[in-house]
Amino acid sequence: MTVATLLRVSSLAKSVPGGRQLFAGLELEVAAGELVAIVGESGVGKSTLLNILAGLDRPDAGEVAIEGIGLASRDDAALTRLRRERIGFVFQAFHVLPYLTLRQNVGLPLALVSAPRHLIDERTDAMLDRVGLGGRGGDYARDLSGGELQRIAIGRALVHEPALILADEPTGNLDPETAGRILALFAQAVREGGAAAIIVTHSDAAAAIADRTLTLTPHGLILRHAR
Ligand SMILES: Nc1ncnc2c1ncn2[C@@H]1O[C@H](COP(=O)(O)OP(=O)(O)OP(=O)(O)O)[C@@H](O)[C@H]1O
Ligand SMILES: [Mg+2]
Repeated sequence: MTVATLLRVSSLAKSVPGGRQLFAGLELEVAAGELVAIVGESGVGKSTLLNILAGLDRPDAGEVAIEGIGLASRDDAALTRLRRERIGFVFQAFHVLPYLTLRQNVGLPLALVSAPRHLIDERTDAMLDRVGLGGRGGDYARDLSGGELQRIAIGRALVHEPALILADEPTGNLDPETAGRILALFAQAVREGGAAAIIVTHSDAAAAIADRTLTLTPHGLILRHAR
């Protein structure tokens, strides 16, 4: 069986605006159907790396290719389309929209690609159930707890069945049992749905479901553990 490389990163380098180098010479390949965990100390550049992979930030050097096409060769419209259609991103700070309902937040990626109304409703309600917030679709996001917001952010990242899932500390605000259920959703999207996933995490439970765990250092990613 040939394994499709979904994400290929070569010689990536990034400095912070002030000038300090975060990392250089970073290499990474992730295949469809593979789940990779990234760990590393606070401030080392994990969120910055995810932002670069999603085309939300630009590297100083090096290249990121998704499905064989370099991000640098795509214009803003193509990058937006790529993010909407192919990527699911769970931000460390959630970025859930407070004045939208839970149903509107989770269904947003489908609405943005103009999916038919009945499909949006069906998939959104199924996803609300799966993140443990079924029956609360009409509530406003501004009233949620931190852990509930995190689960809405995850539902929104998975609802459109993205090819590439990028998740920044997705279980940081969850109790162990809820975290376990949420991690199972990522594992299912990868193992059954064939997505590629990169999860930044400090949690051993999250690292335990990964095929590989990599440590981010100033010299790139170092293999810490493989299944
Ligand atoms: N716009 C900016 N200007 C200056 N420094 C920045 C900027 N953005 C990020 N940084 C710095 O870059 C470094 C890497 O930040 P990043 O958020 O990627 O770290 P992280 O590994 O995700 O950390 P954490 O585990 O705490 O989330 C930090 O030291 C941060 O202060
Ligand atoms: Mg971070």
